[in-house]
Amino acid sequence: MDQIAVRGGQALSGTIPIAGAKNACLALMPATLLSDEPLTLTNAPRLSDISTMTQLLASLGAEVSDLQDGKVLAMSSHDLNNHTADYDIVRKMRASILVLGPMLARDGHAVVSLPGGCAIGARPVDLHLKALEALGAELDLRDGYVHAKAPGGLKGAEIEFPFVSVGATENVLMAATLAKGTTVLKNAAREPEIVDLASCLRAMGAQIEGEGTSQITIQGVERLHGATHPVVTDRIELGTYMLAPAITGGDILLEGGKIGLVGAFAEKLDQAGIHVSEEPGGLRVKRKNGRVSAVDIVTEPFPGFPTDLQAQMMALLCTADGTSVLEERIFENRFMHAPELMRMGAQIDVHGGTAKVTGVERLKGAPVMATDLRASVSLILAGLAAEGETVVSRVYHLDRGYERVEEKLGACGAQIERVQGV
Ligand code: EPZ
Repeated sequence: MDQIAVRGGQALSGTIPIAGAKNACLALMPATLLSDEPLTLTNAPRLSDISTMTQLLASLGAEVSDLQDGKVLAMSSHDLNNHTADYDIVRKMRASILVLGPMLARDGHAVVSLPGGCAIGARPVDLHLKALEALGAELDLRDGYVHAKAPGGLKGAEIEFPFVSVGATENVLMAATLAKGTTVLKNAAREPEIVDLASCLRAMGAQIEGEGTSQITIQGVERLHGATHPVVTDRIELGTYMLAPAITGGDILLEGGKIGLVGAFAEKLDQAGIHVSEEPGGLRVKRKNGRVSAVDIVTEPFPGFPTDLQAQMMALLCTADGTSVLEERIFENRFMHAPELMRMGAQIDVHGGTAKVTGVERLKGAPVMATDLRASVSLILAGLAAEGETVVSRVYHLDRGYERVEEKLGACGAQIERVQGV
């Protein structure tokens, strides 16, 4: 298994290009199942999660080719010959559940393995299933699989989600495009990835209004056609690299970054004493003089502070002047990076969903272990600021969501290298 070794203490300066969003791409790819015409995604990120989704779609009979070194995904689902998403693939990645809505909507039947829990929380899919039932699907949970049927096709309905779910909104949004009549989704997720999915579906001929607000209205159509769609910029990769000059000092231009993607996060950086400005080419982040200030964080659905940046923000706050309180409200077990940061000298007290971080002058390099995707990159950020060497193991988590981390940070002066196959 690969490791990443970081030698801390360099102020970082330069330019980092931001890729297309993993989480948008993982929802856009299953949209190919809605049409028998080709769907092409440009600006796709090159990540292991995208390869897993490719594998899943291929197992259903879709053709997926990556062109231009993986930046373009050309997909076609004209010949779906299998409607079962197997446990062996689904267990690797929870976003696999997103094939359920589209297959059911197009062909009236689908069998998808239940994804099971994961490191950051139980992550059930009950909201996805209830919403599809509201569209008329008949579901049967047997042997760890959801067996879904809609013999007469899905029918539009009004669905109010009890709380915001990104994945459930995406699954039902896709399914509703081919349902008979009108579907109204209330308390829908407002994330940029939802807006991106709606815009792709519209390019395929879907009738959708209200994406980006908490009420989305979908008028079902008979069929969807082919389209080419650029994947939106990855706001989590953007936020992660915004923290690099924040934590080390320095000045970095995040190419392609836009403030609208990271509003609540940028506001917290500003409160901490980090300067963020939008330029024609992207977002520029500079650390003002001196130590950063402590700030309190509460994770919330978009447009609130994203849970996917909580671990990275914690790394920054470990060296802030004062005590910060971080409240994690989306997932029940998303502080696994805390004990690893403590190995580097951080002072953190975790009680349930709240972590109290008392800043120290300097972190110290240590061997640490990545426990999930965002936790792994938070340890790399901490390593960039720490004295001495930090070696992060289990970086396969990192490869699920960040492409070429060593190259991107290395180009800004970081001393970082991948140690292969340790
Ligand atoms: C998406 O997960 C992202 N994944 C996650 O990205 C992100 O952390 C999360 O949204 C929140 O922003 C993808 O887009 C592929 P949810 P998703 O449904 O859709 C509970 C990353 O690091 N819930 O909005 O699975 C759930 O357990 C990650 O890239 C139910 O109880 O998240 C969680 O507590 C990890 N029942 C909360 O809702 C359901 O049926 C929000 O989850 C669905 C969700």
